[in-house]
Amino acid sequence: MKSNLKLQLIFTDRVGIAADVASLLSRQGVNIAFFEMDVRADQAIIYLDAEGSQDTDWEFFLDQLRTLADLKEVSTIETLPQEERAKRLQVALDSIGDGILGIDSQGNVAIINRVAKHILGCDGREVTGTNIRELDQADQRLEKCLTGESFTNVKKNLIAPGGRFQFLATGKPIRDAAGRIVGAVEIMKDMEELKELSTVVAPSGQFSFSDMIGRSPALTEAITFAQKIARTDAVVSIYGESGTGKELFASAIHTESGRNGPFVPINCAALPENLLESELFGYVGGAFSGAQKDGKAGLFEVAGKGTLFLDEIAEMPLPLQAKMLRVLQEKKVRRIGGSKEIPVNARIITATNKNLAEMVEKKLFREDLYYRICVFPIYAPPLRERQEDISLLVEHFLFHLNSRLEKNWQSLAPEAMEKLLRYPWPGNIRELKNVIERAAILSDSPRIESEYILLGKEVGRAIQGTPEIDTGELATTPLPTLIERWEKHYISAALKQTRSKRQAARFLGITHTALINRLKKYGPDLD
Ligand SMILES: Nc1ncnc2c1ncn2[C@@H]1O[C@H](COP(=O)(O)OP(=O)(O)OP(=O)(O)O)[C@@H](O)[C@H]1O
Ligand SMILES: [Mg+2]
Repeated sequence: MKSNLKLQLIFTDRVGIAADVASLLSRQGVNIAFFEMDVRADQAIIYLDAEGSQDTDWEFFLDQLRTLADLKEVSTIETLPQEERAKRLQVALDSIGDGILGIDSQGNVAIINRVAKHILGCDGREVTGTNIRELDQADQRLEKCLTGESFTNVKKNLIAPGGRFQFLATGKPIRDAAGRIVGAVEIMKDMEELKELSTVVAPSGQFSFSDMIGRSPALTEAITFAQKIARTDAVVSIYGESGTGKELFASAIHTESGRNGPFVPINCAALPENLLESELFGYVGGAFSGAQKDGKAGLFEVAGKGTLFLDEIAEMPLPLQAKMLRVLQEKKVRRIGGSKEIPVNARIITATNKNLAEMVEKKLFREDLYYRICVFPIYAPPLRERQEDISLLVEHFLFHLNSRLEKNWQSLAPEAMEKLLRYPWPGNIRELKNVIERAAILSDSPRIESEYILLGKEVGRAIQGTPEIDTGELATTPLPTLIERWEKHYISAALKQTRSKRQAARFLGITHTALINRLKKYGPDLD
């Protein structure tokens, strides 16, 4: 029978401690089951699992140990650091929702977590050390990874004692520093869970309230109110300055409403009156010249039971406002040129950065429509009214940017943050997002200094030497030529400021391809 003693020994550090301990143990006929040495400052701490027999006199053994030179302290311990690490790792692995299975180079199970055990039908059993061929659900694909193969998101179906499992499996070999394969690991993602997740993580372009960053009373009040009315059919109007997140609010209300239909945004300022009308209401075949032969559904129809978001509603021409009012009253639309009445089931959300009440007074907006749409007004507060949200937003934007730009984790220097807090943010969150993006691109260090925080006019100044405007030239040179000259100037300045074309494109707020096309167009003119 074996008998073990776990010990912690603290020495004053010197050369040869490990050898001294090892030779003493061998003289005492005691094996080393585990040995770890940790040197800190002038101390050497040894963790030891001594393995003797049932006849080992541990008291005598400890007395012998105490004779070792420079030993300051001996104590028995319950768990070795290695055991603690293994336990911590196991707890971490078990709390993950994906199955994780790791094997060594012989195909023996080296690590397995709770979910993988459940999927493979070996809950509660100790399978570490068992060859995977001996498991009920042999995993040949994973074994193949030991030859250097890997696989990504392979659909697997398993019927295990715990039920039927459908999951996406990804496996790859594990290599040591010399590149030799020392094992393989497989991650299993439960498809049911993935499906659930895909409904929580709204479809791309659709947001939820959890995407709205900020803890200020002004924002939380607005969110609480919006959440309250989200599930009703009420018309909602969102008012706020440019860049305060009006569209984000509208999209989050739609997501929260659980409506069975799309979120359809339309910007009333972006289209001329007649086009806006045909977009909104649709038309029947042959309604006007240039119309599609079979007619076209309007956005009220397209939105179905979803949400129609009328952005910049203040820009809607008065005649269309009258039509809009009728739709809201009768809950029906008629396509242009048609007579059939189509029921409107879509929820209407409007947004504006104009003071509609003032516009009503000036007769620029219909009073009756104003009262129809302003039943539940939501005020998207400007950033200067919620300074406390700035640091949270910065962190949020940096997190996303850093993973997108594949940069090291960046944060702001205190002076840079102070600079942000002093600024009045006329462009609100959109402006803050742009400022942070520019800073993250320009700064090479993980600490962004205030010189990279370019606010308002500083952006223009950073790109120095705006081309001079010569009024004589203005009269003689066609506008497109002038615009080209300015464009060339800014592109070449951006190229000088940044280290790559990709960075320059981001700096200019255009796509990489758009920049490449311009470089091709201007060619050698650009230095
Ligand atoms: N609370 C927030 N948390 C995180 N991002 C936000 C928040 N509010 C707005 N944003 C982001 O700021 C940008 C501007 O938001 P959005 O387009 O919704 O503003 P807007 O009020 O509709 O602006 P505009 O009046 O110019 O149309 C978007 O990129 C949006 O994702
Ligand atoms: Mg908007």
